[in-house]
Parts: sequence; C-alpha cells; structure tokens
Amino acid sequence: MHSIWTEKYRPQTFSEFKGQEKIVERVKAMVEQQNIGNFLFAGPAGVGKSSMALIIAKTLFKETWKQNFLELNASDDRGIDVVRNTIKDFARLKALGNVPFKIIFLDECDSLTKEAQQALRRTMENFTSTTRFILSCNYSSKIIDPIQSRCTVFRFKPLSKEDFEGLISHISKGEGIKVDKAAIETLFEVCEGDARRMKNILQSCAAMSKNITEELIYDLVSAARPKEVKEVLEIAVKGDFIRARDKLLDVMLQHGLSGLDIIKQIQKEVWALKIPDERKVCLIDKCGEIEFRMVEGADEFVQLEALLANFILK
Ligand SMILES: Nc1ncnc2c1ncn2[C@@H]1O[C@H](COP(=O)(O)OP(=O)(O)OP(=O)(O)O)[C@@H](O)[C@H]1O
Ligand SMILES: [Mg+2]
Repeated sequence: MHSIWTEKYRPQTFSEFKGQEKIVERVKAMVEQQNIGNFLFAGPAGVGKSSMALIIAKTLFKETWKQNFLELNASDDRGIDVVRNTIKDFARLKALGNVPFKIIFLDECDSLTKEAQQALRRTMENFTSTTRFILSCNYSSKIIDPIQSRCTVFRFKPLSKEDFEGLISHISKGEGIKVDKAAIETLFEVCEGDARRMKNILQSCAAMSKNITEELIYDLVSAARPKEVKEVLEIAVKGDFIRARDKLLDVMLQHGLSGLDIIKQIQKEVWALKIPDERKVCLIDKCGEIEFRMVEGADEFVQLEALLANFILK
C-alpha cells in the first residue's frame, strides 16, 4: 500500500522488462553463458538502465546477488577518490558463489571529469580478473574513448507507446485502478518514454481517484492541455495579438507554468497548425532562440510576447 510504485513495479526478470528488445536479447545471451565483459549503458532517464543492471546481477548470482553487486553513484559529491576506495575494497574480496567475478554498477558516469574518468579507467584495468563494470550515463559522448573502447556500449531508447500500454495495464491490474485510453495517450505524451516519470504520475493520480483521466493527469503535472496551447497559437495566427496574449497568460496562471514549460509545449504545437511548412520552420527556429534567451535569464513575458508577435508577422 505504501510502497513506491517505481520500486514495486520495477522489472525483476528479462521477461518483465519492456522494450529495448535488442539489448535484452544480447545481454540475456551473455548472462546465460556467464560471458560478460564491461558494459556501458547510455540513454535518457527512466528507460531501464539501472533496472537492467539489477536484472543482470539477480540472474547471474541468484541468492548471493547482494554480496556480489555494488551500486555506486559516480557523481557522489565526496569525490572520485571515495568511489575508487569503495571499488577497491569491494573488488579485493573474491566473488561468492560459482560466478568467477563480481559486478560494480557505476551510475551517472557522465558527471565525472575527464581526469576522474582516467582514474576510473585504471581502476577498471586493475580489477579485470575479479570484477565486471556496468557504467551508466545519459550521453555516451561525455565518456572518454579509452573507457568506451573497454566496454560494450548499449544504447537505451525511450519506451514506445506499446511498452507504456503494457506497463500501465500491469499496474492497473495490480492496483485496481482504471486508466482510460485518453489517459494512456496523455501519460505517453507527457512522459516522453520515461517509465519512472509515468509510474510516479500514475501513483499520485491514484491517490486522488481510482479512475484516472486525462484531466487528472494534466492537473497533476502542471502542463497545459495541448488543446489550450493550440488555441492560443491559432488565435495568434489569425492576427488577434491581444487576445492570444491574454489567453496565453491565462493558461500559464491556471496551470502554474513557467515560460520555459510553456515554450516546450508551444514548440510541439507549431507542427499541428494549419500554416505553410516554411512558416512552421521559421517559428520553430524562433522558439529555439526565445528558449535560449529565457535560459539566459531574459524576462519571460517579454520573450513570450515577442514569440507571439512572430506568429502574427507574415
Ligand atoms: N524497460 C522498462 N520496463 C519496465 N519498467 C521500466 C523500464 N524502464 C524503466 N522502468 C521503470 O522506471 C523506473 C526507473 O527505471 P531505471 O531506474 O531503470 O531507469 P534508468 O534508465 O536507470 O534512469 P536514470 O538514468 O534516471 O537512472 C524503474 O523503477 C522501473 O519501474
Ligand atoms: Mg539509473
């Protein structure tokens, strides 16, 4: 009742794992032959990198997985030295059970500096006989080449809508909640393939109602309904600047959105407008520029008005 759904519904076996079919297939084969090297898992948040590392450990080591698996966060603010010492202490001891090595899972490796990565590379080399490393990062481009070349790189993708449907139907059964079709669509839209985000939103919604609808989700995630944003843009395209501006302000206040929140939604809705493609391209370009200015600290409302003006200027 009180557990967090991302943990409660974390996949425990390869068969429960959704999506990433190619990765599952390859990793499963390697685990079955106990023939695994060092891995680098790259990909966006909440798509199964940590879960996959846990599944590998549980499948390989069975009951002794806890003794043979060490999870560390590379961005540990106590520094890479602490990480290295912990690794050393762990890797020095022989693996328990009949698998000849242990596994160290190092999360958020892309937050390591180049120097720290060099140090990590040496640590990896020192313990090759007793340890396998699974590194996880969002961007593999931030990992130095020598580490990449020591690892098999697996690129995780955002989950698909079908994967989401599967996960949601599993959770609905387990929790006795109802998620209608539009709500599933909305969850996918809002989470963009991030299963962690989806499970968290779903759990918060379920605390309010067993019947999960599109409205409930939008209220909770402080996002405007795409329809509302589209309306604002349509008014602007028709040339009614004042009404478009007022409506935009309305939408933002109602949902408590920041300029940056709304600009992402505007950018998505531009594609759905009934205007020539060349204009869409110009507006998308403008969205990028305005977003940059906001990130740099420019006044949000001035910038949003400037953006709306672009919808009116032909
Ligand atoms: N492929 C998947 N199949 C089923 N559930 C998933 C999958 N990917 C993620 N999840 C769910 O989302 C949660 C987060 O997943 P996980 O911790 O594996 O993400 P991650 O890729 O390591 O993300 P981060 O980069 O933020 O650490 C898990 O608890 C799990 O419930
Ligand atoms: Mg993770």
